[in-house]
Amino acid sequence: DFHLAPKEAKFSFEGPFGRFDNRQLQRGFEVYSQVCSNCHSLKQIAFRNFADLGYNEAQVKAIAKAWPTKAKTFDAKTGEAGERDNVPADHIPPVYYAGTGSPPDLSLITKARHEGPQYVYSLLTGYADQPAELLKKYPESKTPDGLFYNPYFANLNIAMPPPLTTDGQVTYSDGTPATVDQMSKDVAAFLTWTAEPKLVKRKQTGWAVLGFLVAATALAYLSKRNIWADKH
Ligand code: HEM
Repeated sequence: DFHLAPKEAKFSFEGPFGRFDNRQLQRGFEVYSQVCSNCHSLKQIAFRNFADLGYNEAQVKAIAKAWPTKAKTFDAKTGEAGERDNVPADHIPPVYYAGTGSPPDLSLITKARHEGPQYVYSLLTGYADQPAELLKKYPESKTPDGLFYNPYFANLNIAMPPPLTTDGQVTYSDGTPATVDQMSKDVAAFLTWTAEPKLVKRKQTGWAVLGFLVAATALAYLSKRNIWADKH
């Protein structure tokens, strides 16, 4: 079998005390907006949600305004269709893709795939030549024109051209060296946030609930001792 399970990669948001690393999420957003957004929509996310990543109001406004795919408008009186700059309340406008295959919306992709963050990371770093052994065993499985071999993709040949190929392809505003590995990890983290923006809140709530239950158990035990105490 030539299909591979995702590579092991550690992320800050894993484990019971996991938290997003906002600087990583911002870098991942830079990867998404400079590369992936040419083909993939992110329709569950509104520009104002980027405040979660640590951008202030002015930055969120500027991101929305500068977004290259404009918001569609429709004048009900004249029937005229048009465009305007995005505002923070707008969702990221859908992109239309003319190439081979259909790029899925990425909002929930890390939930839709097993080990989502590791999967996205592995897929992006996993393009390779077809192993000679595979071709020998199944000559008919040669990657067709227009597709690309990737052992992390379920059917091995994917319609997505390798999107991250060169170090420095994305300009990081925090100065982190943008290696292919770094960009892949950062965008995988970003896509974990898009799929579950409240991940950290959920984990913190879990601890608060556990703390309450421990305290309630202690009280129940103490009152039991008090009620059943030998009082003579
Ligand atoms: C599919 C991520 C850039 C075109 C996918 C999938 C993911 C993904 C996770 C789904 C694989 C699956 O179904 O399990 C990304 C990321 C990108 C990026 C994170 C940026 C770093 C691009 C670009 C293009 C593109 C720039 C177009 C030139 C496609 C297409 C598919 C796809 C056509 C469908 C593949 C198929 O079903 O065979 N991408 N992508 N992607 N992507 Fe991308």
